[in-house]
Amino acid sequence: MQSQIIGTGVCIADNIITNDELQKMVDTSDEWIVSRTGIRERRRANKNEASSDLAYIAAKHALKDAGIKPNDVDLILVATATPDMLFPSTACLVQEKLGISNIPAFDLSAVCTGFVYGLATADAFIRSGAYKTILLIGVETLTKFVDYKDRTTCVIFGDGAGAVVIRATKKKKGIIASKIYADGSKWDYIYLPGGGSRIPSYNCNRDDYYLKMKGHDTFKVAVRGLEQAVKDVLKQRHLSIRDIDIVIPHQANIRIIEALVRKLDYSMEKVFVNIQKYGNTSAASIPIAFHEAIKENRIKGGDIILMAAFGSGLTWGATLVQW
Ligand code: ACO
Repeated sequence: MQSQIIGTGVCIADNIITNDELQKMVDTSDEWIVSRTGIRERRRANKNEASSDLAYIAAKHALKDAGIKPNDVDLILVATATPDMLFPSTACLVQEKLGISNIPAFDLSAVCTGFVYGLATADAFIRSGAYKTILLIGVETLTKFVDYKDRTTCVIFGDGAGAVVIRATKKKKGIIASKIYADGSKWDYIYLPGGGSRIPSYNCNRDDYYLKMKGHDTFKVAVRGLEQAVKDVLKQRHLSIRDIDIVIPHQANIRIIEALVRKLDYSMEKVFVNIQKYGNTSAASIPIAFHEAIKENRIKGGDIILMAAFGSGLTWGATLVQW
């Protein structure tokens, strides 16, 4: 059995935050943000919107696109670093909104690599025969966890959700290779200290609830990790980068994407980029970009798609999908 992606859907948060607006909050400029990151604007969820709300909307669109009903799903996976609550899982909250019961639902925590981890997990479940129809959602509301006084992080992150429906197939289509990695020794490159069992909420300062990032250090290892993941996943299928029709990278920083493309001797024209509109939406970035690439007719039958991501953990990985 192979895992075919049969539907996609997204939920883009309504509120747009432009670089000009950020300029009023912190000492930054449109010129700095665009030249250092490629980001022109990002989206922000409403105060009363949590990750499960965005995830539910993306899921509904993906199910419709796949032409199936919520009750046809037999596993829900949600990749998120910004769950509604520490528990229950956001996957269970999405399940409740979709009105389905008696199927398993759980969250995956691999931050910006969450969707790639989710594809690898869904594929393993489908190949094992355990489940046939899996709803995988990448969702993030990171704007609720960034300090709008910290110019090094607040310009980068945005909110959104992207969902895919993955179904077992005997056709030679779908996920054809996955590689995922982690290096916990660099956990402190990107982290959110407060509210867990290390610094429980009763001991938290306000600052403990905000994301911390060693941006420059992360940048260097991101490029190396992505290059490794891409080379290893291609090797798994005896393919070369020339066989790839489109790359859907995690949208973290346009300079990271360009550096990767240079290292791989690939062409930016075949790389899907939407970071200018949404910033870094972490686990939601690849499924949103993937959905947009399909809707913009950038992907045609038979194409080989390469997805690659990097994030907190540290985690990184890559997936090949035959369309
Ligand atoms: N506006 C103006 N100046 C700024 C801003 C800003 N928004 N942010 C930082 N600066 C300044 C810094 O203070 C520094 O000033 P100094 O030289 O006087 O000290 C200068 O710009 C350079 O700072 P760097 O951190 O070296 O800037 P860099 O070019 O590395 O860009 C960035 C920073 C955009 C964060 C980049 O390092 C990056 O994208 N890193 C990777 C982030 C990433 O991919 N994270 C993984 C996923 S996130 C997740 O998992 C949740």
